[in-house]
Amino acid sequence: MKRIGILTSGGDAPGMNAAIRAAVRYGIYAGMEVFGIERGYTGLLEDKFIPMSMRSVSDIIQRGGTILKTARCPEFKTKEGQAKGIENLKKHGVEGLIVIGGDGSFMGAKALSEQGFPAIGIPGTIDNDLAYTDYTLGFDTACNTILDAINKIRDTMSSHERVSIIEVMGRNCGDLALYAGLGGGAEVIIVPEHTVDINRIAERLLASKARGKASAIVMLAEGAGHADDIAAQIKNATDLSVRSTVLGHLQRGGSPSMKDRFLGTSWGVHAVKLLEKGIGNRICGIRDNKIYDMDIVEGCKMKKPFDLELYNMASIVSR
Ligand code: ADP
Ligand code: F6P
Repeated sequence: MKRIGILTSGGDAPGMNAAIRAAVRYGIYAGMEVFGIERGYTGLLEDKFIPMSMRSVSDIIQRGGTILKTARCPEFKTKEGQAKGIENLKKHGVEGLIVIGGDGSFMGAKALSEQGFPAIGIPGTIDNDLAYTDYTLGFDTACNTILDAINKIRDTMSSHERVSIIEVMGRNCGDLALYAGLGGGAEVIIVPEHTVDINRIAERLLASKARGKASAIVMLAEGAGHADDIAAQIKNATDLSVRSTVLGHLQRGGSPSMKDRFLGTSWGVHAVKLLEKGIGNRICGIRDNKIYDMDIVEGCKMKKPFDLELYNMASIVSR
């Protein structure tokens, strides 16, 4: 392929810029022309194609968000929308497309692939909700942001001997709550994949207080409930002093961690190498510390198993 496109779609994630930078620079190094497409599939339909140069991706590896902007585009879910997208790609002579996004964005890339247009997916979402890869771009940075929040909240909770409910993002996936909860020593972790009765949580918090703990952190994944509701239920069941915090969109921003810069760079280059060889219809991932790719249809079908062992480990060591 001599001309390729790249877009970011769905929720942004730290590390997307590292992936854009790597794909643009490796593409140019390999003798290709690279077009950035603005605002995800919306820009594909509105014909927002920008020729990228080595310098157009300067000074972005350290920045969160995405310089290409991102959007959600309901029209691209329709056959007509997809046909219009392919028409615009062909109009610019683009032969292959790199899509950086989550599972929704991959459905779009899969649709393009099924209609004969080669597309490669790079997993960019803080949620870590994709089964075929151990980690997604932005997850590590978001975990570190949450850890920073836990540390700060812990200071005031310890002083006031309170319980804090911290609600984090993740849609239907509990990984942000699980990993940040493990790293931040949360006394309780509530995730959608493994529901626990509120009375058992109350018993655990009371036992922890009886053992001399001055404060407790309850990590709550947004897919498992709302912070205010859980706070009210715990207050009712324990009579402890409870406060709640919803971390919200601050989890999506910030300078990417080393791990996310590494993943973004590696996947950006990997995706271009596939297109360079004329290979499409793949998604990039990391498994057991190895960068790899797999069939987009197979990858999208996979169901992510919940890591119960990790959950139990976090629970035992936070007593
Ligand atoms: P994410 O990629 O972060 O999971 P979304 O689920 O919001 O984010 O999806 C992002 C975009 O991907 C949607 O706005 C739409 O343009 C496209 N998309 C989602 N589902 C499909 C689908 N079934 N077919 C085609 N495109 C889709
Ligand atoms: O998929 C990423 C994510 O941040 C989810 O964790 C969250 O539920 C959702 O996007 C929030 O979407 P929005 O940015 O549209 O509020």
